[in-house]
Amino acid sequence: MPRDAAPAADLPVRVPLVREPWGILRSLEVARRNLLELIPEVALRQPIVSGRTGVRWHMVMDPESNRRILKDRVEDYPKSEVTKNILKPAIGESLFIAEGAHWHWQRRAAAPVFSARNIRNLGPIMSAAADRAAARLEAAAGRAANLLDEMVTATFEVISDVTLSGGEGFDRAAVHRAIDNYIAQTAKVSLLDILGAPAWVPRPLRLVSSAAMREMKRTADAAIDRRRGRGHAGVPDLLDLLLEGEDPKTGRRMTTEELRDNLLTFIVAGHETTALTLAWSLYLLAFDPAQQARARAEAQRVLRGRTATAADVGHLPFIRQVIDEALRLYPPAAMVSRTARVADTLCGREVRPGDTVMLPFYALHRSYLLWDDPHAFRPDRFADRAAIDRFAYLPFGDGPRVCIGASFAIQEAVIILATLVSRFRFSRIPGKDPRPVLILTLRPEGGVWLGIERAGPADAACAA
Ligand code: HEM
Repeated sequence: MPRDAAPAADLPVRVPLVREPWGILRSLEVARRNLLELIPEVALRQPIVSGRTGVRWHMVMDPESNRRILKDRVEDYPKSEVTKNILKPAIGESLFIAEGAHWHWQRRAAAPVFSARNIRNLGPIMSAAADRAAARLEAAAGRAANLLDEMVTATFEVISDVTLSGGEGFDRAAVHRAIDNYIAQTAKVSLLDILGAPAWVPRPLRLVSSAAMREMKRTADAAIDRRRGRGHAGVPDLLDLLLEGEDPKTGRRMTTEELRDNLLTFIVAGHETTALTLAWSLYLLAFDPAQQARARAEAQRVLRGRTATAADVGHLPFIRQVIDEALRLYPPAAMVSRTARVADTLCGREVRPGDTVMLPFYALHRSYLLWDDPHAFRPDRFADRAAIDRFAYLPFGDGPRVCIGASFAIQEAVIILATLVSRFRFSRIPGKDPRPVLILTLRPEGGVWLGIERAGPADAACAA
């Protein structure tokens, strides 16, 4: 099968894309392994690619059409059943999944939770997680470590601390395992649906929610009931804020079940995505030592040996550019999909009601029509953000359903990355580069193994 040129030695890892349309059975096999491999190479050179595998589908890599689907005509492009099937048993009709009026009131009730002020207030929790991550890396200095695991630990600490303040009989490890297993199993099943596989294609049995998942829901419900009775002390966490939240229009508040589904949504949607952003950022900095030295110089100049705080975020523009570029090359939500509700035309192509419309951000972010040298790691692209076409760069989606946690995630990623880069030097390990694999999120298969050494303050002087 002819493929995109093998990844060049001077470019960060990527998946060779296919140059011939796959047959349906082959597609299904590939989709189970790595959904990225379904994206044809031509998607990097065309604004739209259409086909039929059971249902008619279109992959859209065109900023104007993205604006139409996500913003101007959002009502005509509801989230596809696939997304809902995967997540509903775990997170119910929560913010992420609901449509229409049920989505609208939850979004209004949850919006204040993610206000700039509340996010800043959660900064100390992020700094504490950064500190603990640095202590773990300190113990690993001089050796190699899987930075993906380290970042998953750090972001899970943050999300469990900000959702349920850590305690309350909440077994972090058990919840984490339940979510991971659930996603790994369910995503595999539902990829068959993305392709609209006809009914004759055998599907593994639909999974019923596991005992672990039920246990997790029980734990969350109990924590919510306890908190209702007790109220909160100190800085309010996300649960306190959600408990206080009400729809400004109707005054409606969330029931225990709705609160729990939304808390679990924040946990599922928020922790792995941010961990991936950090792991890919660290891989890219190890890939390009000169950019790493720039990042370290900035972080050391601003932090002077301290752990980064929310107040530092605005003073770390280059760290932010590295994160933006990592989100371009390896968007954790690498593809979202919608179902067309009405007839439409996208890039001159006929769209019929029921067609699946995929937005493969991975291909959009690497389109030769939109980016110079698209596979190269160049944080300077983001030096002038106004120069970036808003609908050509969509790591958090856009329009009314844009990620509600985007500022939270960016603040957390900047705090953790700046702290780690100021204290350690990261290097690639020959033969251990990660491979990008898309199964619900874009993960580095095999982890991100990097060599870790303590970075002396002298590094700042060298790179300044
Ligand atoms: C780097 C980290 C993150 C990335 C890349 C990311 C990406 C996304 C994307 C692309 C969407 C839109 C999906 C679609 O349109 O189909 C989304 C929605 C959402 N995200 Fe995030 N996310 C991140 C972090 C977070 C965090 C930290 C939270 C919460 C604490 C969160 C909660 C949500 C929720 C609730 C939605 C649904 C919003 C709605 O439909 O109204 N995300 N995210």
